Amino acid sequence: MAHVRFRETMQTLTGVARPFGVNELIVSKTDLKGHITYANEVFLRLAGYPEKETVGAPHCLIRHPHMPHGVFRLLWDMLGEGKEVFAFIVNRSQNGDHYWVLAHVTPTYDANGKIIGYHSTRRVVDENVRKNVVEPLYASMRDAEAKFSNPKDKAEAGVAFLQTMLQQKGMSYGEFIFSLLK
Ligand SMILES: Cc1cc2nc3c(=O)[nH]c(=O)nc-3n(C[C@H](O)[C@H](O)[C@H](O)COP(=O)(O)O)c2cc1C
Repeated sequence: MAHVRFRETMQTLTGVARPFGVNELIVSKTDLKGHITYANEVFLRLAGYPEKETVGAPHCLIRHPHMPHGVFRLLWDMLGEGKEVFAFIVNRSQNGDHYWVLAHVTPTYDANGKIIGYHSTRRVVDENVRKNVVEPLYASMRDAEAKFSNPKDKAEAGVAFLQTMLQQKGMSYGEFIFSLLK
């Protein structure tokens, strides 16, 4: 019952960042609903759950409360359109530690071109980008979302905030992400 444990421990955050190496990749695969079907050893180490509690659990098992709803709305909308998505994500470990990642999430297709699941590969985030761009942006998205009480409205407010920011910069979401990777 990994989701029950997730809800019970949701309040606890240690403030401790779990490190991982620049040469390490955190990998998971999901079914169409976002239930985990595979997690590599690096994933299990950082998330802090045994494999048997990870495989079969919804991916929100490692959701961190500081993540804006709008980021996940954007991710699922883009995946639904068959697009690849890059996203900066802070995840919560089982004991309340956290770890920032840059995730590359892609649809998995069968031989007939039908989407049968999703795949995410994550790597280390540049500290300056995290501190100076991503954390302030996500704090503003959370502020915009805090005006609403249900998750759907929060997600829409977060996406609207992000889109306004992108319009001001004259960039698409993909261009914005890549501008941070230079
Ligand atoms: C392949 C894949 C990987 C994902 N990876 C993460 C992740 O690392 N952390 C996370 O919080 N959500 C991840 N998600 C999104 C979750 O499914 C979920 O939308 C998110 O945790 C928000 O949960 P909530 O709707 O309960 O707020 C991933 C989804 C997919 C399809």
